[in-house]
Amino acid sequence: MAVAPPHPLLHLFHPHHAGAYVSTMRRGVDHLADALSRVERRPATGVSPERAAKPIADVDLDRPLLDVDAALSEMSRLYLDDTVWFHEPTYAAHLNCPVVIPALLAEVFVSAVNSSLDTFDQSVGGTFMERHLIDWTAGRIGFGATADGIFTSGGSQSNFQGLLLARDHALATRPVARLADLRIFASSDGHFSVQKAARMLGLGDAAVVTIPVDDEHRMEAAALSRALSRCHDEGLIAMAVVATAGTTDFGAIDPLRAVAELAHLHGAWLHVDAAYGGGLLASPTRRVMLDGIDRADSVTIDYHKTWFQPVSSSALVVADGRHLGHVTWHADYLNPKDPHGAGHPNQVDKSIQTTRRFDALKLWLTLRVMGPDQIGAYVDAVVDLATEVGTAMADHPDIELAVAPQLSTIVFRFRPEGMTELHADLLVPLIRTALYERGAAMVAATKSGGHCWLKFTLLNPMATAADILGIVDEVTELGHAFVSEARPRGVA
Ligand SMILES: Cc1ncc(COP(=O)(O)O)c(C=O)c1O
Repeated sequence: MAVAPPHPLLHLFHPHHAGAYVSTMRRGVDHLADALSRVERRPATGVSPERAAKPIADVDLDRPLLDVDAALSEMSRLYLDDTVWFHEPTYAAHLNCPVVIPALLAEVFVSAVNSSLDTFDQSVGGTFMERHLIDWTAGRIGFGATADGIFTSGGSQSNFQGLLLARDHALATRPVARLADLRIFASSDGHFSVQKAARMLGLGDAAVVTIPVDDEHRMEAAALSRALSRCHDEGLIAMAVVATAGTTDFGAIDPLRAVAELAHLHGAWLHVDAAYGGGLLASPTRRVMLDGIDRADSVTIDYHKTWFQPVSSSALVVADGRHLGHVTWHADYLNPKDPHGAGHPNQVDKSIQTTRRFDALKLWLTLRVMGPDQIGAYVDAVVDLATEVGTAMADHPDIELAVAPQLSTIVFRFRPEGMTELHADLLVPLIRTALYERGAAMVAATKSGGHCWLKFTLLNPMATAADILGIVDEVTELGHAFVSEARPRGVA
């Protein structure tokens, strides 16, 4: 006898369909657990873009499988089987963290209840839980009672909104002839979202003045001072200074107190991009590294980096919540002005998004289940790991370190004694690609000082020094193999 297809409405999340919901979710969780159990110390399979693209393009989206198990196994073939696993100790490439289980538990509720955090009438308690988390983060930063903020999709959006507030504050408080007169100062190691924000804010590419960094890749305060004075002398407006607390490549923390002093002396908004270093706010031992962050006007915190949260989870926190009014607009159909004469708690008034996920719930359950000290201990563990591995690498005869690690990145390359800079540069992409193709480890690459480097970004508190030094062994083994391969062809 033919099995009747499920009623089409059964796919909708509804109390009458609780059975279907639970059994579907269980199948998904079991499927994921099974996939996870088959990942064996390999963060990647090394699939090429061509091989990954073809089977996906072949899927006819007009011909559904009409079966959960079939769709899950197709998904595995197209995605999961070759995915990159951030929980693997030898994944050491970009700023991706393994995620904590309480946050994954929260995801179940975030998606199924599907609250939208734009207005109180779409989120109710969610509005106040998000606000409480923002107040808590502001407290950790050291901001006072006037502070406020909003969850965003990520560090780029938080930086964008911080600079938008800075621009509108400059326009509201200073006689500005043209947008093109506004200047943003950031170190040469600052994140590229600053440049992108300047472009999107209509300031033009010339608006970002890059300030040189010292030997440890921190913004040079003296150079910032000179640049700010030059800006004034040229009749331009110092709109904002962006200090980075944890640069993407070197984890460098700009001298926040000195930078704050200079920014405020010149009437500039201080935005601190703590997308990476923000996790230090939870550290029981290293909070001091962010000394001076409380002098900022706005701060970017990425919970989806050093707070071990799933993407997306980020916030922009401002010292004076009134500045968020620059993004407020009232619409009769959504957030009419003061409908009951008492002010309605609508988060959309502070956000550049309208419909917005309740990402804050992930951090909420994380803090309620684990507590902040545990998150801080994870941050401490990865910083300790980078220090231990960096010390061992500094003594390695075939390895050159760009600089001693500061947070949890290590920038290095294969360069045995006598190898030219050029030869070392050429080997970086070859070694990186070969590592990816082997699948046993993943590292990133960058450029610094005009040269090519490999980079470890260590965000896994379960990784050990032996795991990471094992990658160093692979790097040197590959380096030597490339050198011997090239020798007959006459590469120096
Ligand atoms: C210092 C810094 N700021 C901002 C960002 C952007 O964050 P997101 O990728 O969440 O947009 C990054 C990303 O790596 C970063 O390293």
